[in-house]
Amino acid sequence: MDTIVINGGKQLIGKVRISGAKNAAVAILPAALASTEKVCLNNLPDINDIRTLVAILEDLGIGIRRRGRHALELNPAKLRSYAPSYDLVKKMRASYYFMGSLLARCGRAEVPVPGGCDLGPRPIDQHLKGFAALGVEIEQEHGLIKLFAKKMRGAHIYLDVVSVGATINLMIAAVTAEGRTVLENAAKEPEIVDVANFLNAMGASIRGAGTDVIRIDGVSRLGRVEHAIIPDRIEAGTFMLAAAATGGEVVVDEVIPKHLEAVSAKLREMGVTVDAQPERITVCREDKLLPSDLKTFPYPGFPTDLQPLAVALLTAAEGVSIVTENVFDGRFRHVDELKRMGAQIKVEGRTAVVEGGTPLSAAPVTATDLRAGAALVVAGLMARGETILSDAEHIYRGYEQFEEKLRGLGASIRRTRGRGSVLSRKTI
Ligand code: EPZ
Repeated sequence: MDTIVINGGKQLIGKVRISGAKNAAVAILPAALASTEKVCLNNLPDINDIRTLVAILEDLGIGIRRRGRHALELNPAKLRSYAPSYDLVKKMRASYYFMGSLLARCGRAEVPVPGGCDLGPRPIDQHLKGFAALGVEIEQEHGLIKLFAKKMRGAHIYLDVVSVGATINLMIAAVTAEGRTVLENAAKEPEIVDVANFLNAMGASIRGAGTDVIRIDGVSRLGRVEHAIIPDRIEAGTFMLAAAATGGEVVVDEVIPKHLEAVSAKLREMGVTVDAQPERITVCREDKLLPSDLKTFPYPGFPTDLQPLAVALLTAAEGVSIVTENVFDGRFRHVDELKRMGAQIKVEGRTAVVEGGTPLSAAPVTATDLRAGAALVVAGLMARGETILSDAEHIYRGYEQFEEKLRGLGASIRRTRGRGSVLSRKTI
């Protein structure tokens, strides 16, 4: 298990380049299968989830050529299977996008039931409801979801829940369905728009992505495309909240400020200076942090993925803040770890009451998912002394060169790979 060691108490100062968006890339790579011609992708984040997806695609027979650290050239014509490798797919939930892309390409898919994770139950009933509406036959056996459609037909689908994954999965599947598909109550995240732009660039006909009604007119074939992934707004928000937490001044570069408006507004409410320019945002905190109530919502609301980091930050506010998690049922696993560092937080259902003003103290803590892990790194940056974070490999699923980027901003942080505790043993 990887461990990260942080010596906190230092301000973050400097500029950090933000990588391509994980939650766009993990959909676009599977979606490339919808085409039978060359697909070139640029600005991919160099993270473990992408490496896992590349392994799955190669296992399906897809020719892949690396064009540098952040670019790939795919040849989907070589697809030879509609059943991604069980062992690889089980590593990441977003592998459910292979359902939509294999259905669009060859009308069938066999994908393992995606595991849950530490955010609470994560059903895919809306994905399956939408596939069924498109005329897909679905059966589940031996831990596999088997999908088949002789010919998908466009449908009018009303999503019961605003779901990023279901919106993207159904949008991908519908690109080759006969006729028009309408997705109502669709999610509006920027990553959905990026996937739609990618599919349209290969010849699909999608309108309305980014709104709650998306129209897809099926086409018979999809061609070659070159596409650059949008910047990762969650990585950018992570560094913005980290700068506020340490009291430093950080420029997050190569971002789309529009995608971060909820985060910038909340930081300003806390008394943090946020200056948004066309492709960069500067965050600076010189005075004390003000408490602020925060509610997560689907985009354009405050993103649930930054809630753990906001909770860590609010432990430094001079007063009480109430944080409400409206997207996931169980997304407060990081609170127990923050309390080990002295945080005064009380969780009741979907609400955490954060009593600020008590400085965090360094301690051994454990990451339960990638965003909780990032939040504990930020807490370690805030606390005086040495914080040791175990199970840090979660972080590398979604953050490229996380500790290198933080070191570039002045943090004292190092990573040890594999087993071997760095905890100082108290021998007698
Ligand atoms: C995506 O997950 C992101 N992952 C998550 O980011 C993000 O937290 C989430 O959207 C919400 O914004 C990727 O894009 C790979 P949902 P997803 O479907 O699509 C319920 C990260 O850290 N729901 O929008 O799985 C669900 O239980 C990850 O980068 C159903 O009930 O999330 C949840 O309560 C963590 N039935 C809510 O909807 C369904 O069929 C939103 O989930 C689907 C979802």
